[in-house]
Amino acid sequence: MYAFSRAVNSIHSEDVKQLMKQASGKNLISFAGGMPNNDLFPVEQIDEIYNSLPEGLKKLCFQYGPSSGYPPLIKSLETYLKSKGLVVGDNKILITTGSLQAISIITQEFVNEGDIILTENPCFVGALTVFETFGAEIQSIPIDENGINIEALKSKIQSLDRQPRFLYITPNYHNPAGIIYSPERKKELLEVLSGTGIILIEDDAYSDLYFDKEEKHLLKPMKSFGVKDVEIIYTGSFSKILGPGFRLGYMLSSEEIFDKAETVKQGLDTCTSTFMQILANEFLAQNKLEPYVTFLRSEYLERKNLLQKYLKTYMPEEVSWNEPKGGFYVWLKLPAHIKSTDVFKESVAKGVVFVTGRTFDPAGRKDDRLRLSFSNMPKDQIEKGVKILSEAIIKVLRNSKVVLS
Ligand SMILES: Cc1ncc(COP(=O)(O)O)c(C=O)c1O
Repeated sequence: MYAFSRAVNSIHSEDVKQLMKQASGKNLISFAGGMPNNDLFPVEQIDEIYNSLPEGLKKLCFQYGPSSGYPPLIKSLETYLKSKGLVVGDNKILITTGSLQAISIITQEFVNEGDIILTENPCFVGALTVFETFGAEIQSIPIDENGINIEALKSKIQSLDRQPRFLYITPNYHNPAGIIYSPERKKELLEVLSGTGIILIEDDAYSDLYFDKEEKHLLKPMKSFGVKDVEIIYTGSFSKILGPGFRLGYMLSSEEIFDKAETVKQGLDTCTSTFMQILANEFLAQNKLEPYVTFLRSEYLERKNLLQKYLKTYMPEEVSWNEPKGGFYVWLKLPAHIKSTDVFKESVAKGVVFVTGRTFDPAGRKDDRLRLSFSNMPKDQIEKGVKILSEAIIKVLRNSKVVLS
C-alpha cells in the first residue's frame, strides 16, 4: 500500500477511465464517447498535407518548438477566431496539448488547495477531474435550457465565505446537457460577474458544430463582447473538428495571464507536439477546415435526427430528452425514482453503453439523467442501440414498481 498523494483521489477520475474504455470497447454499441467516429477523420487530406510538405518543414515536425506554440499556427488561429467574431487584439494565444491542458494550466495558475471553483451542474467531467486533482472545493450551480441559473449563481456567490477563483462554463452545445446559452443569459451572467473579481472560463469546444447556420450568431464568444470588468479566458480545441488524436487546444487570455500560463506549460511538457501543430496549421492555412467541418455537420445532423426518431419510437413515455441544435449530446431524463446507474447495469449486459448522469454531477450523486452521444455512432446501429436501451429502462422501471408496491 503506497502513500499516494491527495491529487490521485479525484472521485471522477475512475469515471473518466471507465468512460474511455467503454467509448472504444469492441462489440459494444457505444453512446458513451464524446468523440468523432473513426470513419469520419480526414485521413486522405492529412496524407496529402504531409507528403507535400517541403523537406525543411518535415524535419521541423520532429523538433521542439516555442512553449507558446508554433508561430504560423498562432497566426492561422487568429484568422480562425476572427471568423467567429473574436478579435485577438491585445490578448495572447497559448497553444496547449488538448484544451483540457488549458483548463489544467489555468487551474494551476490560479488555484491553491482548498480554493473555491464554481462550475455548472452538470459539468464536463474532464474539467471536474482537473479541479479535484488540484484540491479545489467545487461549488456547482444548476443549469436550465438557457444556461446557468442566475438566481442560484447570485445566492451561491453571496453564501460563500471566500471569493471563488473562477467560474468554468461550456456555453455552446454543453457537455453533457447539449444546450446553448441564450443571449439574455450571457448578458445576465456577465452582469453578475461584473466587478466581483471572479474570472470566467469560457470553454468553447463545440461551437463549429451547429446544425443550422442561422443560429451561428448565438454562438458568438462572450470574450468578444468587449466587457471590461469581467476577465474572460477563452479555451478552444481541435479535437471535435479535426480529431482528438491531434491533442491540440488553445487558450486566449490577457498578456499577464498568458505569461504565467506559459511558465506552467513549460513545466508540463515544454511544448505541444510540433508535428501536430504543423499539420493542423496546413489544414487551416490551405482552407481545408471549413469544407471538412461542413461535412461533419451534415454527418452529425443525420445521426442526431436518427437518434431523435428512434427515441420517439422506443422510449417509454416517462422518459424525456432535449433535441440539440449542434454538438454531440442528448441528455435523457429518467423518472426521479430510478437511477441511470441501474439502467447502465441492464443495458451494458445487452451490449449498449452510455454515460451515467452522476458522472457529471460534481458531488457524484444526482443520477436521474444519462448522456447519449451520437457522434461516434455508426448510423446503422442507432436503432438497435436505442431499442436495447429503452428495454433496459423499461425493465428498471418495472422492477422499481414491484419494489414500491
Ligand atoms: C466541454 C469540453 N471541453 C474540453 C474538452 C477537451 O478536449 P481536448 O481533447 O481538446 O482536451 C472536451 C472533450 O470532451 C469537452 O467536452
